[in-house]
Amino acid sequence: MLRQEQNEVLSGTGPGTPMGEVFRRFWIPALLSEELPAPDCAPVRVRLLGEDLVAFRDSTGKVGLVDEACPHRGASLFFGRNEDCGLRCTYHGWKFDRDGQCVDMPNEPPDTQFKEKVTIKAYPTVEQGGAVWTYMGPEEHEPQMPAMEWSLVPEEHRFLAKIEVDCNYAQAMEGDIDSSHTAFLHGRVGEDSVDRGSANKTRKERLRRFSFIDRAPKFFLIDTDYGFMAAARRYGGDEHYYWRITQWLFPAFSITPREAGSVLQCNMRIPIDDHRHMFYRTQYRPQKPLTDEEVYEYRHGGNIFPQTVPGTYRPVQTLENDFLIDRSLQRSGTYSGIKGIPTQDQSVTVSMGPIVDRSKERLATSDAAIIHSRRLLLKQAQEVQKNGQLSVPGGGDPYFVRGVGLLVDRDTPFDVGAAEAMDANNPWHEDVAWAQVEPVGVDE
Ligand code: FES
Ligand SMILES: [Fe+2]
Repeated sequence: MLRQEQNEVLSGTGPGTPMGEVFRRFWIPALLSEELPAPDCAPVRVRLLGEDLVAFRDSTGKVGLVDEACPHRGASLFFGRNEDCGLRCTYHGWKFDRDGQCVDMPNEPPDTQFKEKVTIKAYPTVEQGGAVWTYMGPEEHEPQMPAMEWSLVPEEHRFLAKIEVDCNYAQAMEGDIDSSHTAFLHGRVGEDSVDRGSANKTRKERLRRFSFIDRAPKFFLIDTDYGFMAAARRYGGDEHYYWRITQWLFPAFSITPREAGSVLQCNMRIPIDDHRHMFYRTQYRPQKPLTDEEVYEYRHGGNIFPQTVPGTYRPVQTLENDFLIDRSLQRSGTYSGIKGIPTQDQSVTVSMGPIVDRSKERLATSDAAIIHSRRLLLKQAQEVQKNGQLSVPGGGDPYFVRGVGLLVDRDTPFDVGAAEAMDANNPWHEDVAWAQVEPVGVDE
């Protein structure tokens, strides 16, 4: 539970708000690179942390991200002409380069010095991993780019998409680190009692069955330079525990636990404004390209990515159509009656309302990771207010980690037993030593 004032701090990311200042101290995705396919292509609107901006790719191929409103008299630069290394307002022809400098003012006398004095708000950008990232904070506090593995693998090893979600970033992000909901929301009816035969199951599938056998995991949290590890411990046979370790990274990123060799996943919850966020999800394989079948499924919507309305980033299933819930499916098929994992997630987080009232919650032990993420974010909000800076690095190599699901000897601390697995410098395939422990006790 949070007090009303704390809840407001956690959820509010507009300019000048404490959490808004925290988000502005990190590099965050602003849009997908593919939205700006070529130099001088059409500009796109970007609403980010409550600010209305326009992104454009200039003639050199670099991306500018500027205020949407022209500083002359406020016309939208979305309608601007993207030409010859700048974005030109169609009202009176003023033109701005990607650094925000006015470089032409054709409706003023040619000898005017005024244009040198006119600038438009412009944020720096970097393209990495198929996303255009931006940093919206003070120059002197700019951190390194986060070295997240997905953003550094070759393009064919990764699929990145974004989906607009109608709720505050924080409640959706809390779902990403909430290990105990998986067996329910994403489960199937009777999952804990049927289909126990092991003969046709892969090792990974057998491991995952532990999540359905032990539905009340115990949580262990360890702070790190990037955020924290949220480790959920479950029964894993007589000699081991089955650990699912989610990486939570500032300001609102998480890396989902996966078994050795599986396609990895990173989720990023970037506020559009306080009532909506852009959900960036990436699926990636460190050492091998994704297959054509995988990419086809991701692109067209299925279990991992929701189907979107063509030409938009809006999902087809929304609260307005009750996420297309199917009550007969709910009785005998999936636990939720809703198709697709991210849509199942949205059905619960969006249904809380645009900003959930955390003063009314009844939190339990399974909410430990969620409580901790709030604590860390609120602490950074305080640090920035008090000292003008974060007390965490905010990017760089610490972000080069993986989320993992594995068996660890009962006597070994999870962070020791999983150290090799979590380090993204190590190989990621089914033959690695830490993945050789056979799941036993899962099939009885
Ligand atoms: S409003 Fe943009 S040039 Fe006048
Ligand atoms: Fe979920």
